[in-house]
Amino acid sequence: MTIGISDLAFATAHQVLDLQQLADVQGIDVGKFYIGIGQSQMSVPTADEDIVTMGAEAAAQILARHGSDGIRTLLFATESGIDQSKSAGVFVHGLLGMGEHCRVVELKQACYSATAALQFALGIVARDASEKVLVIASDVARYALDSSGEPTQGAAAVAFLVTADPALIEIEPVTGLHTDDIHDFWRPNYLSTALVDGKYSLAAYLGALEGAWNEYQSRGGFAFAEMARFCYHQPFTKMAVKAHDRLCKIVGADLDKDQRLAQISASLELNRRTGNSYTASIYVGLLSLLEHDDADLAGERIGFFSYGSGSVSEFFTGVVRPGYRELLRTARDAAVLDNRRPVDYPRYRALHESVDAVQGADFETAAETTGPYRFAGVVDHVRRYEKLG
Ligand code: CAA
Repeated sequence: MTIGISDLAFATAHQVLDLQQLADVQGIDVGKFYIGIGQSQMSVPTADEDIVTMGAEAAAQILARHGSDGIRTLLFATESGIDQSKSAGVFVHGLLGMGEHCRVVELKQACYSATAALQFALGIVARDASEKVLVIASDVARYALDSSGEPTQGAAAVAFLVTADPALIEIEPVTGLHTDDIHDFWRPNYLSTALVDGKYSLAAYLGALEGAWNEYQSRGGFAFAEMARFCYHQPFTKMAVKAHDRLCKIVGADLDKDQRLAQISASLELNRRTGNSYTASIYVGLLSLLEHDDADLAGERIGFFSYGSGSVSEFFTGVVRPGYRELLRTARDAAVLDNRRPVDYPRYRALHESVDAVQGADFETAAETTGPYRFAGVVDHVRRYEKLG
């Protein structure tokens, strides 16, 4: 039996800040952002958008195509949770009117947890091939204003359906794992922004790649040359370039810079415009690869490296299924990015500061989003969501 992803959908916040604005305020050359870290824009949530509204918008596309019958598990991966107890997935389950015979749970381990969700979903389907698992990964990446991490903020969500005989990509069984108890990036409960040891986090990511790759090989994984494309966790797109260069060095691949880039460049297109989306980022990368690679990838093997600070990481592979292009929503996803409302720097800064200002109190949000779901505010400590239109 083959198991994998049958459909993959994307959502992002409905405002955008061009990083030129940030460079102007900081008085630096925008080349540091556009080229140095490989980011051109960041998605900025309106006051009435969050991980639930983005997750619901992504998942609604899956349900519109497949229905919710037979989905008995919903796994919600995030590291920007909105409640310490209730899963963000239950809010989405309610918003989308899914059936009551469903287990819903939230998973956390920094940016890695969507891959944990994928692996758990594969296990559920392996036990009973009639099961379908809906995985949602949704995050708002927030760093302190004026910090080095600020240009790498962003927001996006993906939803994907894990089934037997998958239509989009088969996920193969051999994986390589790596865990290390470190503090490269983390967010204490009392902070709304992440703490990060920037340079150390880059080294930790690359060290984890080597560790996960080595275990993948020791467990009988495919050779580097048997993989046509690679898809990495992308805190910023240049990180994927650095990671692929490192992997090529580890395996001694005889590829020049252009050949190395050709194996990953299509996977960078969407992330370059959304910014970091933590858990969603690697799967935004997969969608970007499928939508933007000119080559026919049917039958080709993709190598994946999923990294979550702290740190847990995994190397695994998947094989793209014939007919995958018919399942993509390429024009819709491009339009969603193009149609985001531009915000100027003062508005972006005010929105960033307002997140901490409303902590702990009841409040209503201004109706700003142009998306299909909105976060209306908090009443008696309960978060309220609405479906629009
Ligand atoms: N034109 C072109 N390039 C320029 C330039 C210009 N005018 N000015 C600078 N650059 C280049 C630099 O040479 C550098 O390139 P290299 O890394 O290839 O040398 C790049 O731009 C960045 O410059 P700096 O290293 O000086 O930037 P910085 O110190 O201000 O911050 C950062 C970089 C540490 C990545 C920071 O953005 C950060 O802290 N980001 C958040 C942490 C992060 O994303 N870590 C990734 C690993 S952890 C992870 O993956 C989990 C997660 O999601 C967070």
